[in-house]
Amino acid sequence: MRSFLGSIAILSLAALAAWSQTPAAAPTAIPHLQRQGTATQLIVDGKPFLMLAGELRNSNSSTPTYLKPIWPKLTAMHVNTVLCVVHWELFEPQEGKFDYTLVDSQIRDAQTNNLRLIFLWFGSWKNGVSSYVPAWVKTNQDRFPRVQRKDGTSIEVLSTLGVASRDADARAFAALMRHIKQVDTTRRVIMVQVENEVGLGGDSRDRCDLAAKAFAGPVPKELLDYIAANRDRLHPLFRKAWETAGSKTSGTWEQVFGTDSFTDDIFMAWNYASYVGRVAAAGKAEYPLPMFVNNACSMPNPGRPRSTGGGRPQPEVGNVWKAAAPAIDFRGPDLYTPNLPVWINWYQESFVPENPLFIPETDGNTGTYHAFYVFGQHDGMGFSPFAIEEYAIPRPGVKGPDSADLPLAKSYGILAQLAPVILENQGKGKMAGAVVGAGEPAQKIPLGDYNLLVSYPGGRRPQPGEAAAGAATAPVFATVSLEATELAQRTGALFISLGPDEYLVAGSGPLQVRFTPNTPGLPIAGILSIQEGTYVNGRWVPGRTLNGDENGGGTNLRLGGDGSRNGLVQRIKLYRYR
Ligand code: DGJ
Repeated sequence: MRSFLGSIAILSLAALAAWSQTPAAAPTAIPHLQRQGTATQLIVDGKPFLMLAGELRNSNSSTPTYLKPIWPKLTAMHVNTVLCVVHWELFEPQEGKFDYTLVDSQIRDAQTNNLRLIFLWFGSWKNGVSSYVPAWVKTNQDRFPRVQRKDGTSIEVLSTLGVASRDADARAFAALMRHIKQVDTTRRVIMVQVENEVGLGGDSRDRCDLAAKAFAGPVPKELLDYIAANRDRLHPLFRKAWETAGSKTSGTWEQVFGTDSFTDDIFMAWNYASYVGRVAAAGKAEYPLPMFVNNACSMPNPGRPRSTGGGRPQPEVGNVWKAAAPAIDFRGPDLYTPNLPVWINWYQESFVPENPLFIPETDGNTGTYHAFYVFGQHDGMGFSPFAIEEYAIPRPGVKGPDSADLPLAKSYGILAQLAPVILENQGKGKMAGAVVGAGEPAQKIPLGDYNLLVSYPGGRRPQPGEAAAGAATAPVFATVSLEATELAQRTGALFISLGPDEYLVAGSGPLQVRFTPNTPGLPIAGILSIQEGTYVNGRWVPGRTLNGDENGGGTNLRLGGDGSRNGLVQRIKLYRYR
């Protein structure tokens, strides 16, 4: 632990004074969320911002020295936003004495490296447990009560019913937000995640005395009022539980939602969300940045028709989170699955009411192609592989490519070019995304006046050296287990309808697209022209015109890696004939 606790306040004041001597431009508007059509965008410095993000391995945020060489590597990877942890135990080592040293150095380093930050507040819970709480919380179980399981054992998890815990967490979080407001004059910090992957494991609900009493007591009026006012906007499973139990307007948890274990989930969701919502609201009262929670997703399947989430911000209890925690702007799915499109559709489509999309954690190898899908298909605000620095700096003894040559960096480089055009088109029904694999049937994607038939070219295996064109070869650091060959045979792509007969196609690797009309008129689509190129400051700079061998003799669009070395960003103009 730091030995200079007594001088913390002095150090912080000195740092503040030094900063305030630097002439700075007038601060821009506070980062906030804004609707554009059906999408939600994050506004930074008054403009929509696309987060090409990455989360640091959590312990790495505990010292500036460790991070020093990492920041420029992240910039070289075209990362523009870094998710880093504020550890409650380091932030408030003694009750009421706050140490801003790490927060200040992260903001300063972000500024130097032209990066934005999302702080992850690891307060009462991280991955469901309470290991990041300060020692003065850990060692005072009477004041800060813990969860008790059915068998009577307590675990290192704070109970959501602990008022002193909630208020202590909220005070610390408020101090953090107050400080960010004071020092972050260039708006490096653009959002904050409150707690991390909350949710109870090992039992369906907390059985400590406080929790048992609350469970036997009445369902809070706020939740019942919310249900009455939002009858048509309830998740089907939540609505079914309430209606099956008789659509009651008062009663205990089991009277209102039934005796099924789903009621435990609803009860825990209410209590987690109320606690986290209070912490978030205390922070927002100081400095109203967008705030969110992340969810360790658990998708229902035929063998398990609904999750036993222990109160996690799952779609099934999304209404409960909405009612209990209005200060939380959205719930972000942590998705490490190779089947990300399937999971994301489940998470987003089953959210009632709808939920803006940011992926706080995912795998960076599959991220090479999933990022295109998230931005193209789901109007994502951002995408954030976990342990991002381990893609940039391989583990000791492991020889790896330079950060800028990594597959993920190549994808981020393309997305960084395209960001203005993606942001311009979000929420307008003009974009789509896909992930295609070798040997899989073509996907039919209706967009504008055409259907796009999208496939991985010919099912052929990538050739040596094709990784440089965007397809992943060996996983640099794997958080999902996919063989290198499997990674290398998948492409993520996004499509933008630029006008009645014009499309932009961009992707992570080889891809083939055929076009067929889907509106009345002449029945056959022909290609007028295809150009590869780049976007520079949002302006299209064309390169070669692709024809002949490079567009299948005028029959289709082919992204790179297919032996013809085609570019990974192309624009196509179509016409129709009979
Ligand atoms: C999910 C957690 O939210 C992260 O903090 C980290 O522990 C990762 N898992 C590790 O894979």
